[in-house]
Amino acid sequence: MSATVPMDPARPVTTHDLGAMKAARTPIVMLTAYDTSSARLVDEAGVDAILVGDSLGMVVLGHDSTLPVTMEDMVHHTRAVVRGTTHALVIADMPFMSFQVTPEDALRNAGRLMAEAGAHAVKLEGGRHMASTVARLVESGIPVMGHVGLTPQSVHQLGGYKVQGRETPVALALIEDCRALEDAGAFSIVLECIPTELAEMVSRELSIPTIGIGAGAGCDGQVQVFHDLLGLGGEFVPRHARRYADVGTVIRDAVAGYASDVRGGAFPSAEESTSMDTTVVAEVDRLRASSARAVGVVRADEA
Ligand code: KIV
Repeated sequence: MSATVPMDPARPVTTHDLGAMKAARTPIVMLTAYDTSSARLVDEAGVDAILVGDSLGMVVLGHDSTLPVTMEDMVHHTRAVVRGTTHALVIADMPFMSFQVTPEDALRNAGRLMAEAGAHAVKLEGGRHMASTVARLVESGIPVMGHVGLTPQSVHQLGGYKVQGRETPVALALIEDCRALEDAGAFSIVLECIPTELAEMVSRELSIPTIGIGAGAGCDGQVQVFHDLLGLGGEFVPRHARRYADVGTVIRDAVAGYASDVRGGAFPSAEESTSMDTTVVAEVDRLRASSARAVGVVRADEA
């Protein structure tokens, strides 16, 4: 993987473009975003795809897992991201229990993310057991990204946020999962927290692009969580993330400066305020004083 041919920034990225990027060995860049202002920055930076991940439950809404995230949350945040994006492909995550119960539920909910929220594609967690659901969505014109390995919606079944696929049976099962998703029509698959060697095997074997997070450099693309990259997630940085900026410290220092200026009377200045003509001030003051006298109110400085 070496070529670096960025997508034409003047036009929107499609799911087909991601396939072409794999064929051209051009690494695919994906990042999460959850609101209009962050989506605008991520889009302007030229990423190929924005994932409105259900990780928003943890990094934006303060939950301790992704399980409480609702369809309403996803529609709300996806809409906001779409409003801030002109170039990147916007992929909306399907939240826990929005696609597992029946394929009809999955279709209705994926349809909402596309029609109401304006997503260009959806992502859902799971392998072979989700293949028929993926096929149902794809047949209905909804592009689907798969997600295997560490699937956070199954955190309680997995016994924690742990690397998956180190043992032969699990590795073989994961390869079968990826094949089934590809056969079902998925346009791409996220590989989360699996060994580099396994991710390389899968990426070689599939004709659709793999997007890794904690899966090494052999994937066709990479995805990261916005807050991890920018130091907005507190002290904890996952092993697979790299902090490219400490925006959290920048924000904390800026807010502390604002608070100190307000308390010290340094904000706002005259330049940051507006003023009235002195004759208007005098007239308002005179009229207010005479009407107060008329109703018998006497100001302290007049008493
Ligand atoms: O929800 C999310 O942000 C994700 C990525 C970590 C792949 O699923």
